[in-house]
Amino acid sequence: MNMQPGKLITFEGIDGSGKTTQLRLLEQYLAARGFEFISTREPGGTDLGLKIRAALLDGAKGSVEPLAELLLYAADRAHHVRRVIMPALDAGKLVLSDRFYDATTVYQGYARGFDLGLVRYLNDLAAGGIRPDLTLLFDIDVETGWQRTHKRSLENNDSESQPNRLDQESHDFRQRVREAYLEIAALEPDRFRVIDAAGTIEHSCERMITEVARLVN
Ligand code: TMP
Repeated sequence: MNMQPGKLITFEGIDGSGKTTQLRLLEQYLAARGFEFISTREPGGTDLGLKIRAALLDGAKGSVEPLAELLLYAADRAHHVRRVIMPALDAGKLVLSDRFYDATTVYQGYARGFDLGLVRYLNDLAAGGIRPDLTLLFDIDVETGWQRTHKRSLENNDSESQPNRLDQESHDFRQRVREAYLEIAALEPDRFRVIDAAGTIEHSCERMITEVARLVN
């Protein structure tokens, strides 16, 4: 548990899992009920983080050394936690974060193959003792996730919807990420809720609201 009076809810899942859409729906739910909350994301929850995000995601496949990638995600988090998350939790707010350190565990640890002890050390260092109170894992099979990401990039012109450097990774990489998320979720059943994201937006949303209501009411 965090020492802070606020609560941290993190959103995780492979690309195309719909986690960001669900985060937006949760914002509407919380706003309608008068909750004080902030929404943020990793990488890119601060001005410095936006530069780190661009450095990490705009390049071609292979343009960032894996160790530099690991350290850049940690640097983004170290800044984000201290400048955005901790102050909001101290003020008693709910914090919704689109990804947090579990993403480093699965993408850089399990999928890229960095030593899990090293990844844990960097995650703890960057997070400065912050631990999510609830982590919503939107689970979807890799093929469906990939099709959704592809469809989004065809339908929208904005840069956010275009495939990023990690979207160019192989099917196997995405499969490792999905399996790793499920594995770490099973290790911490008190913190994680796995939400089946293959169905309708409404179905996932209902499940999410049930879990969040348990935490905040
Ligand atoms: P997003 O598209 O959900 O904003 O995430 C950006 C990409 O960064 C996504 O492919 C996952 C990846 N990522 C990592 O590899 N490690 C991390 O620690 C984080 C936060 C994201």
